[in-house]
Amino acid sequence: MTSLGFGVLGAGRIGRLHARNLSGAVDRARVVGVMDAIPEAAEVVAAASDGAYATQDAEALIKDEQIDCVLIASPTTLHAEQIVLAARAGKAIFCEMPVAFTLPETIEAMEVVEETGVPFQIGFNRRFDPGIAAVAEAIHSGGLGEVEMFRSQSGDHSPPPLDYVATSGGIYLDSAIHDIDVARFIVGEVERVTALGRVLIEPGMEEHGDVDTSVLTLEFASGALGIIQNSRRTAYGHDVRVEVHAAAGKVVSEEERDTQAWTYTREGIRGDYRSDFLERFKQAYIRELQSFVDAVLEGRKPSPGPRDAVESLRVAIAATRSLHEKRPVRLVEVA
Ligand SMILES: NC(=O)c1ccc[n+]([C@@H]2O[C@H](COP(=O)([O-])OP(=O)(O)OC[C@H]3O[C@@H](n4cnc5c(N)ncnc54)[C@H](O)[C@@H]3O)[C@@H](O)[C@H]2O)c1
Repeated sequence: MTSLGFGVLGAGRIGRLHARNLSGAVDRARVVGVMDAIPEAAEVVAAASDGAYATQDAEALIKDEQIDCVLIASPTTLHAEQIVLAARAGKAIFCEMPVAFTLPETIEAMEVVEETGVPFQIGFNRRFDPGIAAVAEAIHSGGLGEVEMFRSQSGDHSPPPLDYVATSGGIYLDSAIHDIDVARFIVGEVERVTALGRVLIEPGMEEHGDVDTSVLTLEFASGALGIIQNSRRTAYGHDVRVEVHAAAGKVVSEEERDTQAWTYTREGIRGDYRSDFLERFKQAYIRELQSFVDAVLEGRKPSPGPRDAVESLRVAIAATRSLHEKRPVRLVEVA
């Protein structure tokens, strides 16, 4: 096989982006079919994906023989059942994060993936950001010695609409889970978390039991300490920074800009900025799919895989529990 045919489930914000990447930016891949519950959504994305068809029938798309891989970009509540259908049909699966909002549903779906042996990758795209990947490589190479502290700071340009907040799973499952996955990727497993959260930006968050500003501390199994800061409002754009402090020095990935140019005037110094995560992680979204395609075609296990889908979610659930119960939560408490 020289190229993989994809069926895309969900033609919303992220499904559209993945379909576009698969239709041009990712080598050895093509979109065969696009499914969405809203016919026009599927049609628009299919029309932009050379020769792809649009459908409302998820099962037919999954079973289509021209389709080697199923890309799941539907609402989170549908992922687990779509994973099971695709795994039982023997298709390689790329699934957007998280697999589900609960651990039992996630574990059950991942067990089917393991049983069937189909390739599976979870959409923790930040691992593929060139800056973050370079930090991971610097630490994993061992040149800086043992990690002592980890810090990740993430800011969304502005808070999401409240109807999105209502079904998002909260700040830890929706947003901080990306920082958590990077922490696990670079430093290793987490043993205990302590969350502090406030509503400082959008008062409506309170009625959904959510917060818009959070500080989460991590105690890693290695003994290292970590801190994750999340804000739903970063006035100047989407801002993600990672810093890892180790025995022989530190590695830092600061916010990337589109151009390296600064404009100096009497009014001050200006550079450009990224307004949202789709722009900020443009490269990461392409690189994660390329990595998946290469792994499937070359017979390697894609990564991050089922274990990361489960363990990063476990930390996010522990953080949510810590916020609500106002106490440190050990990961072994979360089953
Ligand atoms: N990795 C990331 O950075 C990232 C970013 C955004 C979203 N996500 C994840 O991607 C998923 C989709 O998020 P989104 O922001 O694109 O949402 P969205 O609401 O923009 O899109 C979801 C789409 O799924 C469609 N849909 C409804 N029922 C469906 C069904 N039965 N089968 C297939 N599709 C159906 C909806 O009509 C909609 O077009 C979520 O799980 C979210 O957590 C991940």
